[in-house]
Amino acid sequence: MTEPAPDAGTLRERALTSLTTARERTTLLTTCVEGPDLTAQHSPLMSPLVWDLAHIGNQEEMWLLRTVGGQEAIRPEIDHLYDAFEHPRAERPSLPLLPPDEARTYAAQVRTRALDVLESARLDGTRLTEAGFAFGMIAQHEQQHDETMLITHQLRTGPPALTAADPEPAPLFTGPAEVVVPGGPFTMGTSSEPWALDNERPAHVKEVAPFAIDTTPVTNRAYQAFIEDGGYDDPRWWTREGFDHIRRHSIHAPLFWRRDGGQWLRRRFGVTEVVPPEEPVLHVCWYEADAYARWAGRRLPTETEWEKAARFDPATGGSMRYPWGDAEPEPEHANLGQRHLRPAPAGSYPKGESPLGVRQLIGDVWEWTASDFLPYPGFTAFPYKEYSEVFFGPEYKVLRGGSFAVDPVACRGTFRNWDYPIRRQIFSGFRTARSVEHI
Ligand code: AVJ
Ligand code: FE
Repeated sequence: MTEPAPDAGTLRERALTSLTTARERTTLLTTCVEGPDLTAQHSPLMSPLVWDLAHIGNQEEMWLLRTVGGQEAIRPEIDHLYDAFEHPRAERPSLPLLPPDEARTYAAQVRTRALDVLESARLDGTRLTEAGFAFGMIAQHEQQHDETMLITHQLRTGPPALTAADPEPAPLFTGPAEVVVPGGPFTMGTSSEPWALDNERPAHVKEVAPFAIDTTPVTNRAYQAFIEDGGYDDPRWWTREGFDHIRRHSIHAPLFWRRDGGQWLRRRFGVTEVVPPEEPVLHVCWYEADAYARWAGRRLPTETEWEKAARFDPATGGSMRYPWGDAEPEPEHANLGQRHLRPAPAGSYPKGESPLGVRQLIGDVWEWTASDFLPYPGFTAFPYKEYSEVFFGPEYKVLRGGSFAVDPVACRGTFRNWDYPIRRQIFSGFRTARSVEHI
C-alpha cells in the first residue's frame, strides 16, 4: 500500500507477462484435443472451444487494436459471430465459425499487433490505458474464457486429454471448524487496485454485524452426510424454487457424481474416481449450497461477510488485497491457475490464511454467497455495460474467491463472479456462516 506506483516499463512487463501466460493456457486447452472436439458442442451450456478461441481474439482486437491502437478492423464481417449477446451459447455451433486453423491464425495475428500497441502505448492519461488497464482487462478476459474452456473439457465425455500434478497431500485438518469475525466497519471493494474491473468499484464502507464463518470450504465428507441424511428429499432445507428445481431435474447429488454400491464415484476430466472425502465439494448449485447450510443449522455468508473474512486486517482495521496480505499470489498461498485439475484438501495452504485464520478463501472452489449480484454504491459501467451492468439483478447470485481453474490475474479479494442459482457445471463449492451475538 505504501509502495511507489510502478513505472511504465514495469507495467508494460506485467501486461506482457499476463497476456503471454493467458495465451499459453489457451493454446494448451485448444491443442490437447483434435479438430472435431474443438468444433463440437459438448454441452448446450457451453460454446464450441473454437468459438472461445476466436472470441478471445475478437475482444482483443476490439479493445487493444481498434480502441487503444486506433486501427481498422481486420475482419469486420466476423464481429457478429463472436458477439456473446447476439448468439446464445446453444446457437453457436450452427454459425459459420472460423475453423480451428483460421481461428488460431486470427488470434495470433491480433496478438502480434497487440504487442506492438503495448510497446508504444502511453500507460497514463486515459482511464482505459491508465496503469495498463486495457491490457490487464484483456488478459483477464482470456483467462476467464480459459476457465470456461476448462469447464467444457470437464463436460466432454471420452478419454482424458489434460493431466496435471495433484496438490500436495495435506494432514487431516484438525483446527477450529469456524472463525469469529468481529462486527464493525469494513471497507469493501476497491478504488485503487489498477486492474480491478468495474463491478469491484468503488471502495465503500459497510457496517457488518459479528458472524462466524467456516475455516475451510465444506468438504465432500460433510456433504455426503447431508445426502445420507436424506437432505435431497426433505423440503425443510430447501427454498421453494430450489426444491422444485431438484425434483424436476431428478438431482440427488453434485454434478458428475454417481453412486456405486456403498460409495460415491465422480467423473473428473475423463477419469472416474472415488469421491475424495477431504476435498472441498465441487459442482453444486446455489440451491444445493443453501439447502446444505440450512440442514447444518447455518446459512451462506453474504458477499460482504465473505469479503470481510477475506480482506479485513484486525491489526489495522483496513482491507488487504488478499487474505495473506498485499503480495501477489504464489503457489504456497493458493491453488490457482490450473496448476492442478482439482481442489486441494480442506485445510491446505496455511500460508494463505487470513489474519483471523480462515483458509482457502482464494483458489480451490468458487464459493456461493447468499447475495444477489448488484452494483456497489457509486458504480459506473466501464469500459462496457455488457461486462457487468446488464447482469445486475436478483436472478444472479455472487460467487467469490476463485477456483483452481482461475489464473491469479483474474482473482483477488475484491473479484466478483456471478451465475444463475441452478448452475453447477462451474467449479463451485461453498462455506457456511452464522450470526453471533457479540464480539
Ligand atoms: C464473469 C465469468 C460471469 O464468462 O460470463 C467473459 C466473464 N464476460 N466474457 C462470463 C466474461 C465476458 C463472465 N463471468
Ligand atoms: Fe467473453
